[in-house]
Amino acid sequence: MAISATHDGSELIGEVVGDRYRIEEIVGAGGMATVYKAFDTTLERPVALKVMRREVTGDADQLERFRREARAAAKLSHAHIVTVIDAGEENGRPYIVFEFIEGETLKQRIKSNGPLPITEAVAYAIEIGGALVAAHAAGLVHRDVKPQNVLIDSAGHAKVADFGIARELEASDGLTKTGRVLGTTDYVSPEQAMGEDVTGQSDVYSLGIVLYEMLTGEVPFKGENHVAVAMKHVKEQLPDVQRLRPEVSSTLAAVIEKMTAKEPVDRYLSAASAESDLDDVLAIETARAGGLTGEATVVFDTLPKHSRRLAPPGLSHPMRTRLAWLVSLVAIVGIAGLLFSQVRRGNTGERQTTKSTPGSVIALRSSGAFDPLPGGDDKEHSEQTRNAIDNNPQTDWATERYENSTFPDGKGGVGLFIRTNRPAGAATAKILTPDPDMTVEIYGARALPGDLAGWTKLGGASGALNNKTIKLQSNKDLRYFMVWITALPKHGQAPGKAHISEFSLRR
Ligand SMILES: Nc1ncnc2c1ncn2[C@@H]1O[C@H](COP(=O)(O)OP(=O)(O)O)[C@@H](O)[C@H]1O
Ligand SMILES: [Mg+2]
Repeated sequence: MAISATHDGSELIGEVVGDRYRIEEIVGAGGMATVYKAFDTTLERPVALKVMRREVTGDADQLERFRREARAAAKLSHAHIVTVIDAGEENGRPYIVFEFIEGETLKQRIKSNGPLPITEAVAYAIEIGGALVAAHAAGLVHRDVKPQNVLIDSAGHAKVADFGIARELEASDGLTKTGRVLGTTDYVSPEQAMGEDVTGQSDVYSLGIVLYEMLTGEVPFKGENHVAVAMKHVKEQLPDVQRLRPEVSSTLAAVIEKMTAKEPVDRYLSAASAESDLDDVLAIETARAGGLTGEATVVFDTLPKHSRRLAPPGLSHPMRTRLAWLVSLVAIVGIAGLLFSQVRRGNTGERQTTKSTPGSVIALRSSGAFDPLPGGDDKEHSEQTRNAIDNNPQTDWATERYENSTFPDGKGGVGLFIRTNRPAGAATAKILTPDPDMTVEIYGARALPGDLAGWTKLGGASGALNNKTIKLQSNKDLRYFMVWITALPKHGQAPGKAHISEFSLRR
């Protein structure tokens, strides 16, 4: 590797690092490192090569941290974290090799497109949140969550980059010193700005600010310099998201408020709990955008009355049909009311680790019929689905009656879904039914999907199902479960029509 007098990083273009990676072009540069697109001559594919800047290598502490953090980041394996492939050192300069993400950063996306569609913004926040959950579980706090560090790949998924490095940097060279390495304070948590302990909750704050920016197109606080902006994070109230983006639901606004609470005690305790609420928000915003209507009939009708009263205002979205509007309204009132009341009580989504004894019954909260297109309509008796979770085997939910016990062409089945009280993992399912035969598949999901492809299959059974224990594949943290009836009863009192008098799940 040649050493040149210039320090912009371009002196390495054309060089081969580690006898293997040929540097092609600069794709990014920060205070500590330059990131290149390089060609892996062994596996013949592009990679991203992050090389420590020459002037930083003189600092023994930072050198050691770069090495250590490369190892830490390499431990993380997650769909939404950029994968570390290799690391090494060339002429005293450490480097890390990452999978190359063809695409743009989330910052570039916001700059060129302006505010993102609400469901897209929430979906990215969920993906980034999932990456943070994994990092925190591995004992790593990112400390520099910002859209410049989130890459959007060609399939449109978010990948968090720049893991761990900022963490150590910040610890030794914080704001109060030179501010040289801290590129921006646009997303900094109050405690981080004040030089206090930085925890996973600090990442949650930053993610809240990123979500705010995705929705409004702007960062919330602007100032003359980094310190002025940081002080606003400490002292100034976050501008009202709904004023800048009126279509945002009150539920989503409340979640952002809780993510960006100045005091960690008022904030989500973990990235997992924030992510779990965002899952629910996605269901709400999808329904508001009309995404679920027409494709799924969603009725949440077993919610306590007090939750409904807390439903957010502003359901003025154009809906495709009056019926669709009605269905969405019920869904929004249901989920939003529920979540909203929890946010207000300040205990949203905090997972209870107690009461998860294997074999114990999972508490179910609400239900609906799942009857997606093609072939679906709104006639699968959504209003009766509560009969399947009311602990009363005398009442049941039934499908429509189909001639010859077969679904019409293009219709794969009819489903009954339920929502659990808390994210849960289920080991077994049980159905009570008067029907002598039918075939079911059991599915799970973290947020309510609009079509069958959004669900994950956990198990299935056929024949005489009454009181039979259906084993489910290992799963956890699911909010929705579905019985998907693929073959209707052919015998018994009412062939062509399936009945479920009780559906239950156990851990
Ligand atoms: N794996 C990658 N694939 C493609 N581009 C990347 C990759 N990693 C980083 N980049 C680009 O380089 C920039 C800086 O990378 P980052 O890891 O954030 O380094 P820094 O510590 O300098 O901020 C990113 O904003 C992105 O544009
Ligand atoms: Mg970066």
